[in-house]
Amino acid sequence: MMLDRLSPQAPDALLALIRLYAADPRSDKIDLGVGVYRTEEGDTPVFAAIKAAEQVLVDTQDSKSYLGPEGDMGFVHALMPYVFGSADPTMGGRISGMQTPGGTGAVRLALALAQRAGVKRVYMGVPSWPNHAQILADLGLELVTFQHARHDGTADLDAVLDIIDNAGPDEAVLLHGCCHNPTGIDYTAFDWDSIADAFAGSGAFPIIDAAYQGLGQGLEEDAAGLRTVLAKVPEAFIAYSCDKNFGQYRDRVGAFYILGQDQTALDTAFSNANALARACWSMPPDHGGAAVRIILRDPDLTAQWLAELDTMRTRMRQVRDALAAAGTAGRIDLTPLGLQNGLFAMLPVTKEEVATLREEHGIYMAASGRINIAGLTSANLPKFIAALAAVAQ
Ligand SMILES: Cc1ncc(COP(=O)(O)O)c(C=O)c1O
Repeated sequence: MMLDRLSPQAPDALLALIRLYAADPRSDKIDLGVGVYRTEEGDTPVFAAIKAAEQVLVDTQDSKSYLGPEGDMGFVHALMPYVFGSADPTMGGRISGMQTPGGTGAVRLALALAQRAGVKRVYMGVPSWPNHAQILADLGLELVTFQHARHDGTADLDAVLDIIDNAGPDEAVLLHGCCHNPTGIDYTAFDWDSIADAFAGSGAFPIIDAAYQGLGQGLEEDAAGLRTVLAKVPEAFIAYSCDKNFGQYRDRVGAFYILGQDQTALDTAFSNANALARACWSMPPDHGGAAVRIILRDPDLTAQWLAELDTMRTRMRQVRDALAAAGTAGRIDLTPLGLQNGLFAMLPVTKEEVATLREEHGIYMAASGRINIAGLTSANLPKFIAALAAVAQ
């Protein structure tokens, strides 16, 4: 039989963890596995600004007819001042974009278009978001990895510069724009300057994945690195997700932007991106992008969204500060977590220690030691630190 030729694939490890967590009867269990924002109460609510925008959509949307592979260009344009700066969001007409099904769709499109343009090899710091490697493998692109971070919890600038300096014009380097997943370790402003110079010098193609803007240091601050690179290079791709900073996870809201040398280059590149999108998903789901467009075109809703984003960022900063203030837990130094950004951090724990934390303490995290910072609250933080101290001797 044809289907007998397929071999079973390992289920997604985090989804398996969700099931284990759900089946655990302990009332003080802690979920640090799934990568979504949570409030102090442990909820992942719909943003009030999104609810309001959805209501506008219900009241005013008069058709659900096809839009085209580029999706809602009102959404794509409304986002640009936030990503590329309000002074000149198109960088003199050199940036344009299209809507994608989430940041995943944007990453997929960026890599597929790079491949179509002749890129065969992609360099990427590890550990990284696991789907990066899966998409590269699915496309048949060669992945060459380098270490993203040093043991002291800071980014390894020398490693990335060495990679960019030695990469050729037919090679791409994939970087996280901010809130690195899974380490939380971002490049500093000084690092980004050097990275931008290196790209300008080597001709390697920059692909920047910006999935968490606003969840690190602030909206502007989180985009500063990618803007520094774009200011110095002739061409680049940006993959963007609104699924975290608008809380739209399951509505799949993202955008793919291209920096090109001129309008002609952009037109040709987007005719190819449209063809790739058409063959893959035809067009992106509309609802979530339309809600973002409504928010960003309405000053009151924009203010509401910004306030909600501030609350999220502040809460994660408070958790990070509390972890850092604890100093050490067993042999683990928690202080670097205070300097890192976003939803995630990597704890230097063994798989066995992860299993013990789960079995004996009801603390659930990925086998890699990645924790979701937003799974911690002022109520469960003392238990988490005490359990870590007991297990990671
Ligand atoms: C680094 C990174 N890029 C892209 C994505 C994809 O985001 P989305 O859920 O919008 O597809 C994620 C999601 O976890 C991510 O962590």
